[in-house]
Amino acid sequence: KYVPEGEVTGDLDLTGATGLGPLKTTVVKTAPIEGQKPGTSGLRKKTKEFMGEHYLNNFVQAAFDAIKASGTNVSEGSLLIGGDGRYFNDIAIQTIIKMGIANGVKRFWVGQDGLLSTPAVSAIIRERGPVWQKCFGAFILTASHNPGGPEEDFGIKYNCENGGPAPEKVTNAIFANTCTISSYKICNDIPTIDIATAGFTTLKSDDGSMEINVEVISSTGSHINLLKTTFDFPAIKALLDRPDFTMVYDCMHGVNGPYAKKVVIDILGQPAESCMNADPKDDFGGGHADPNLTYAKELVAIMGLDKKGTKIDVGGKKIPSFGAAADGDGDRNMILGSQFFVSPSDSLAVIAAYADVIPFFRSQGGLKGVARSMPTSGAVDLVAKDLNFDLFETPTGWKYFGNLMDSKAIYGGTDYTPFICGEESFGTGSDHVREKDGIWAVLAWLSILASANPDASKPLVTVQDIVEKHWAKYGRNYYSRWDFEGMDKAKATSMMDKMRADTETNTGRTVGKYTIAKADDFTYVDPVDGSVATKQGIRFLMVDGSRVIFRLSGTAGSGATVRMYIEQYEPKDINKVASEALAGLIRVALDLCDIKGFLGTEEPTVIT
Ligand code: G6P
Ligand code: ZN
Repeated sequence: KYVPEGEVTGDLDLTGATGLGPLKTTVVKTAPIEGQKPGTSGLRKKTKEFMGEHYLNNFVQAAFDAIKASGTNVSEGSLLIGGDGRYFNDIAIQTIIKMGIANGVKRFWVGQDGLLSTPAVSAIIRERGPVWQKCFGAFILTASHNPGGPEEDFGIKYNCENGGPAPEKVTNAIFANTCTISSYKICNDIPTIDIATAGFTTLKSDDGSMEINVEVISSTGSHINLLKTTFDFPAIKALLDRPDFTMVYDCMHGVNGPYAKKVVIDILGQPAESCMNADPKDDFGGGHADPNLTYAKELVAIMGLDKKGTKIDVGGKKIPSFGAAADGDGDRNMILGSQFFVSPSDSLAVIAAYADVIPFFRSQGGLKGVARSMPTSGAVDLVAKDLNFDLFETPTGWKYFGNLMDSKAIYGGTDYTPFICGEESFGTGSDHVREKDGIWAVLAWLSILASANPDASKPLVTVQDIVEKHWAKYGRNYYSRWDFEGMDKAKATSMMDKMRADTETNTGRTVGKYTIAKADDFTYVDPVDGSVATKQGIRFLMVDGSRVIFRLSGTAGSGATVRMYIEQYEPKDINKVASEALAGLIRVALDLCDIKGFLGTEEPTVIT
């Protein structure tokens, strides 16, 4: 059963082996726990549920079994573990180590203090892996932008050796395993490992024949090194050093704080107040670490806006030139100018249009491919057409971008990289990693501003100037997303089913001043591996190019969240207030879904 050091030919199976001392495996009887299906981005549940007996263990064992079944020899590579620092992060890490050893893992890398942002995980797997020991995957402990704490949410997701979220065939296999699980393996006798100090902990079996290494690594090192080679830091510093330029980056007490402080304060030499809420807290300071106009309240007020993105009177206070916010695990971003909100869809389009100012793209002969999730506005499509980029429309979920980025490297197909992708849900990134990357988006915007302001003696070209110039050239995709959170799941599902059943009858119908050119349920065929994703959102595509889309969120912790996306393109009339420009189409959208009839409300909980 037990193969000593140096002769490993497959996964170690330690069950029943003797002489292992602290590395002795216990097989614990368990039974399936309902509802362990990973959503858009991992499994998210109430923290208390995760802390319940066997809950985390069942999922982790199911994951190990799926990883092994996919052909990975976990005894050969390293396993990376870290999280966004939310409540239960530290305990979960110790459990995963104990279960990892029992399942044959011999090398672990853990982010110092248990902290790793989602993009940093991706960077570490990709950058550090080849140099040290191949990393076969990572567990990220996060519920992203969901609130944290004992009464709030916890989450876990698995990323594969390309640095990206596990593809659906892996998450489906994990879920299938959770439905049949009858036991899990754990080394209960291992002492709590110090994850606060960088360095190695070695655990040995009593007979000395087996050794396990846990290496606590810098949370920020690999990722920041990568960002330094991606962007022109001296150019960004010249912009930030202008006396008329100030910035504030709100980390919302998530894991992004240490990364933002390292980059903005230590490397770019900016004052401490350039980063706010930059100490990670296990309950995110009681806040909701989601970078949008509703939840990033403090920053939004500093930038002179209200939650609708309308200008407010700040009573003569100086407003920073640039504002940004991050979510709990540091993969989301919100970009603001002085009294100006940049919608995520516009942000994606502008970054794509200016990609050449970023050394990462310039040095590879320029941007080649762009992608957006289906509900994200078509603003980037116009840029792609103009600049001749390959364009992809994928379902919601970052994992769908991974195949496109890896199309050449892994699948030997067409090379779409260098590549930029983004979603309306405040996610933007590129193929420098395989996750969305909040701080990358911030540095991309600072790079654009730096390029637009080569001469410090001239008046500052602002975020607003850049976006308005973009609209003047390409037209404007007015856009809004309405969320109805905490809805009854069965009723919300009936509403979706009804629209799905009616797609044919709705096609060709005229509602108000809109004629529906096509109503359908979005299906995606992955151009790289041909896999098909169905039921990805009900779309009403209007004759005039406007769109109304409905989805049920795949990230809601409890209940159902209905998302309604509204988009209307205006080639010339670019200066209207978005809510006013969209009012007519919003009315039509509410009627099309009959949310009042199904769910008894027309009042969204959040508008972004
Ligand atoms: C996560 C995913 C994104 C997704 C977002 C919203 O952040 O990484 O890819 O767009 O959740 O997903 P949802 O299913 O809740 O609309
Ligand atoms: Zn996130």
